[in-house]
Amino acid sequence: MAVRQVLKMGDPLLFQVAEPVREFDTPQLDALIADMFDTMAALNGAGLAAPQIGVSQRIAIFGKETEEGWKGCLSVPGMRGIVRRYTKLRYSGFDQRGRPVAREASGFHARVVQHECDHLDGILYPMRIKDMRLFGYEDVLFPGQ
Ligand code: NI
Repeated sequence: MAVRQVLKMGDPLLFQVAEPVREFDTPQLDALIADMFDTMAALNGAGLAAPQIGVSQRIAIFGKETEEGWKGCLSVPGMRGIVRRYTKLRYSGFDQRGRPVAREASGFHARVVQHECDHLDGILYPMRIKDMRLFGYEDVLFPGQ
């Protein structure tokens, strides 16, 4: 498996609505998801959506809920912003074998789910920032960290 290159904001693919997955439980899907986990782990991300590695399909993965702090978005490196999100939600979809999943999420995990699902609709978090004063470079916002 492999760490894939993550597209950065400005790439048109990040603004597309991704296509539904039509075939589950295939070696191609397994390989893609394995690459997504490798990529997320290598970059210390909390989640990743397939469009971020150039695959316009509705696939998102999430890190463990206990993983540390929110880091913005791997497609918007070096920046952070404040976005209003629901604190609790219910989501449903399919796992990679095509089995239906329905889950509840709250707190940090709920934020990650909303963020990754936004990627599937071509929405990057800066597009949701209401007050642009709450958006900036990490080294300016958090000097010395
Ligand atoms: Ni992101």
